[in-house]
Amino acid sequence: MATNRTFTMLKPDSVEKGYIGAILEKINATGFRIVAMKMTQMTVADAKEFYAIHSERPFFGELVEYMTRGPIIAAVLEKENAVEDFRALIGATNPAEAAEGTIRKMYAASMGENAVHGSDSDENAAIESAFHFSGREMF
Ligand code: TYD
Repeated sequence: MATNRTFTMLKPDSVEKGYIGAILEKINATGFRIVAMKMTQMTVADAKEFYAIHSERPFFGELVEYMTRGPIIAAVLEKENAVEDFRALIGATNPAEAAEGTIRKMYAASMGENAVHGSDSDENAAIESAFHFSGREMF
């Protein structure tokens, strides 16, 4: 995968609250091109694998429950400096600490339900994109 791509999920709270359109609009307006996208629902096994790095953390159970409770929008985004620029667009993990105008500041309720995911490295962007999409589904 090229280093100008990142992976995102609009998490179950974003879908439940009807924020899909507004968040995608912001993503487009910031210059990201959507190269793959779908609505899907993670199984418990999926969420445990996706967030395996956090498996020993006290919030892991709640994280898995939250991420599996309803559908998500999974997408691969393309832009120069995609990983870093998208992390800047979504803001801090805890929305209370997120900068004004960021997606988490605008649409996230709490640290545990923080509206959106963004890969934290080029390597993880490639792994996470491949977790959700086959090569034929990325354009
Ligand atoms: P992390 O990968 O650290 O954050 P980010 O999503 O910003 O890359 O954590 C993954 C998710 O786990 C995070 O989006 C929300 C949840 N989480 C908690 O619920 N409590 C916590 O203390 C942390 C660090 C994360």
